[in-house]
Amino acid sequence: MKKRILSGMRPTGKMHLGHLHGALSNWKRLQEDYECFYFIADWHALTSEYANTGIIKDSIDDIIIDWVSVGLDPEISTFFIQSHIKEHAELHLIFSMITPLSWLERNPTYKEQLKELTQKDLYTYGFLGYPVLQAADILMYKANGVPVGEDQAPHVEMTREIARRFNHLYKEVFPVPDVLLAPTSKILGLDRRKMSKSYGNAIFLTDTDDDITSKTGQMITDPQRARKSDPGDPDICNVFSFHEIYTPEDTVKQIEKDCRKAAIGCVDCKKIMAKNLCSALSPIREKRKELESDISRVKDIIDQGNKRAEIIAQQTMAEVKEAVKI
Ligand code: TRP
Ligand code: SF4
Repeated sequence: MKKRILSGMRPTGKMHLGHLHGALSNWKRLQEDYECFYFIADWHALTSEYANTGIIKDSIDDIIIDWVSVGLDPEISTFFIQSHIKEHAELHLIFSMITPLSWLERNPTYKEQLKELTQKDLYTYGFLGYPVLQAADILMYKANGVPVGEDQAPHVEMTREIARRFNHLYKEVFPVPDVLLAPTSKILGLDRRKMSKSYGNAIFLTDTDDDITSKTGQMITDPQRARKSDPGDPDICNVFSFHEIYTPEDTVKQIEKDCRKAAIGCVDCKKIMAKNLCSALSPIREKRKELESDISRVKDIIDQGNKRAEIIAQQTMAEVKEAVKI
């Protein structure tokens, strides 16, 4: 029997290349070897977007469309929406009774977000409990592994502690899940910071060829290379990292050589990259168009996934209630 994995995304806007190379291509690979549950964490989105909830509902169909467009297969994997499976709230409540406050206050992601997202008031009960809800998501399906980026590893660590504590207090109900760290992606934003919608440095899966060409034009290259006659260093050039993903290998080798001896200018080099990026994204956009004109298929995918998820969630909650004797 295949091992089970589960991962989720918060619906807080459009998907970009950071999502594609950071998470989705990894999720896609894992589909072959694991039984996969992928879900939209809309309650988690509420922890920070509670004053701006429109974006949550608006992003849900879009994200499912993106998942299918990049090659996640709803026939093989289960896609569902967190808030449709009410059991997540119930398990979150039970876990909240056994999770020490000190674990939550020590959580590095919590401390960091409070410092960074200063425009939002995040001193809420729900936001502090973010990892408790995440533990409920994961343990509900008795996932053996959780594919996430490094930033989420502390949350999975806390999930492991909550599972052990529950098993110790009541009864061995939950397997202790492993973190499956996604291979780190070399994709950065246009300005070489982490790609993020809020930094305005993202290339979205929905961008047109013109958007892509003009965004590529803004990309920072080797900052030491002031003139076209100066040799460049591809190792520190963001455009070159994109070439390594989107450009055929022999061309990449040629560009590397030419860049180092100033035989190619950045403008031309970017044009080649933009063209290859456009052709890589074009089948994804085609697929997206197809689904956008068939929203009932998207609804069906969600309904089917929710049904599969619900059956497991109900079984787990029955075991939980029996263990807790409530
Ligand atoms: N916290 C995750 C993120 O921001 C999203 C998430 C919610 C999640 N529940 C999860 C990821 C369970 C993995 C497993 O990316
Ligand atoms: Fe980067 Fe290409 Fe310019 Fe070299 S030629 S610095 S690889 S954009």
